[in-house]
Amino acid sequence: MQKEENWQLRENIAKTFGSASQSYDVSARLQRFSGKHLMPWLPKKTDLTVLDLGSGTGFFTDLLAGNYQRVIGLDISKDMLRFAKSKRDEDILWIEGDAHKIPLANESVDLIYSNLVIQWFNPLDVAINEMLRILKPGGLIIFTTLIDGTLHELKSSWKQVDNDQHVIDFKSEEELNTLFNTNKSKLLEQKCQDIVLEYQNVIHLARELKGLGANHLPHKKNRGLSGKDKWFKMTEYYQDFLEPNGIYPATYRLFSGLVVKLNN
Ligand SMILES: C[S@@+](CC[C@H](N)C(=O)[O-])C[C@H]1O[C@@H](n2cnc3c(N)ncnc32)[C@H](O)[C@@H]1O
Repeated sequence: MQKEENWQLRENIAKTFGSASQSYDVSARLQRFSGKHLMPWLPKKTDLTVLDLGSGTGFFTDLLAGNYQRVIGLDISKDMLRFAKSKRDEDILWIEGDAHKIPLANESVDLIYSNLVIQWFNPLDVAINEMLRILKPGGLIIFTTLIDGTLHELKSSWKQVDNDQHVIDFKSEEELNTLFNTNKSKLLEQKCQDIVLEYQNVIHLARELKGLGANHLPHKKNRGLSGKDKWFKMTEYYQDFLEPNGIYPATYRLFSGLVVKLNN
């Protein structure tokens, strides 16, 4: 039953991201920042097989293809893959697949790059085991994800209105350390930073989250519109965070990690 639920959940995530594939590159200012910020950790050696896990519209897959010999973009969303295929380097191999069951052979990849994706994995330990299975010993995972504290302004504004879930559950820094520091892998480098993006109003923020496909909430009780009244109330509470220049801030707590698969 749990497995079936997880599968259903992933299908929904794929659909939500799929419907955002056309608008995604316009709204993706956070993704651009976080993905570029991983570049200094990339190995200099070029004769590598690289997997972009959760490749989305393929923006970073394309950059990786400029650096490495064999690059694979893997995503669960057909629409994202279709979009990426039509826009990006033709040498990239595109694969439709789920990170919890990666359709690649054991020890076949040197580097996994994954930008703002693993917050969607559930259970995350299953996906990590899969990443370690396909990595060669000594291979690297270079990733960013969002952690606890992300969108705290939106979360606390909604909390004053109802008890429903309006923001997805994010892991903590400690949880990520426990998951990656095992007898199979080690978190060699990590960085945590708050990125505060500015919005003209709360609708602008909601539109950006929708454009990113980041509006899938697995535990939300009331599907559909939250009701105009509730929405209006929430935006009033959000005024507490309003900056003197009339800008609405939203915090994204970004975690970046460099993981090595141990030789054992
Ligand atoms: C926020 S987007 C990031 C896309 C890209 N990495 C970037 O930096 O622009 C997350 C992507 O992860 C994909 N995704 C979510 N869950 C997945 C899963 N279980 N397996 C593979 N891809 C998944 C989504 O379809 C979406 O394209």
